[in-house]
Amino acid sequence: MYSERFKNLTPYVPGEQPQDRRYIKLNTNENPYPPAPGVDAVMAHFDAETLRRYPDPNADDLCRTIARFHGLQREQVIVGNGSDEILSFVFFAFFDSKTDPLLFPEHTYSFYPVYCDYYGIVYKKIALNDGYGIDIERFLDEKGCGIIIPNPNAPTGILLSLDKVTELMERWPSDRVVVIDEAYIDFGGESALPLIHRFPNLLVVCTFSKSYSLAGSRLGWAMGDRALIDALYAVKDSFNSYPVDTITQKIGIAAMEDRAWFDKTRGMVMAERERVLGALKGFGWKVLPSSANFLFAGAPDRDGKAVYDGLRAQGVLVRFFNKEGLTPFVRITIGTAEENTALLEAVKALP
Ligand SMILES: Cc1ncc(COP(=O)(O)O)c(C=O)c1O
Repeated sequence: MYSERFKNLTPYVPGEQPQDRRYIKLNTNENPYPPAPGVDAVMAHFDAETLRRYPDPNADDLCRTIARFHGLQREQVIVGNGSDEILSFVFFAFFDSKTDPLLFPEHTYSFYPVYCDYYGIVYKKIALNDGYGIDIERFLDEKGCGIIIPNPNAPTGILLSLDKVTELMERWPSDRVVVIDEAYIDFGGESALPLIHRFPNLLVVCTFSKSYSLAGSRLGWAMGDRALIDALYAVKDSFNSYPVDTITQKIGIAAMEDRAWFDKTRGMVMAERERVLGALKGFGWKVLPSSANFLFAGAPDRDGKAVYDGLRAQGVLVRFFNKEGLTPFVRITIGTAEENTALLEAVKALP
């Protein structure tokens, strides 16, 4: 009854969205602040009658808005149903491991191996350095059919400098695609976007889920050389012509146009991140330097599972990764000031 393909699937396991009680939810890297007020206005004035029609299949207005804010041509942008969908198109279009494996960091976004299994792509995980950072030399030492790196990386939060990304591109074969997944770049990182003009094999993938507070709308995008973007359109149109619905197309425009809201909310997240980092260090925790909207942190006297359980019992949800090398840590999403204070109180009260 089931295909061989299906039998080999190992689905991604998203962070918990529990319904049993109200938690302080610091486990899925959502933004603690609402989306830009213009998003409310779009919803309030939306004419339901328009839902009779299919959406614009390529979300032209939204792509033009994204292009304008990033100094690109419209043809250098594609949007999808979350950056997860964009990534799925990317894995299908660019990574073919008949000879060489796809390379990505040993500890990274756990959807990457899932896509590899889905599309039958062989991959090789490249070890992080002793400080849990990405070492480009380790990638350049390998022969790969392509590279995908989140920057900042997840779940560590550590940033790879633009200089290092540039060096990677300069020394990596120009006929093999490098994807920089910038889901968290707006929380203090420097985007690789300017490099797409120099390197036609570089694709930058972004999302509205984090810095734009629109995880529930499922909206992501990619930017790169027109040939790469054309390839992604070909995959999209072989799978689902209308991945972004009518309301979301408008919401995305409203969110991106409000730069003041974007800067204010990401500024608050970054300031709170530094406060929580300082407080945890004050408790003797090991906290990795983060350029994201989360911290990867380990208690001095207990492992990550015990911290996770102890916080959960107090109504605070963080994420624990039961993977070799990561078990001393939990990943803590930065919440509102009140949520973070409650987290720190819960940490102090750990049994
Ligand atoms: C590194 C990374 N890339 C991509 C995504 C997917 O984001 P979305 O599908 O919500 O755009 C996530 C989600 O947490 C992520 O951590």
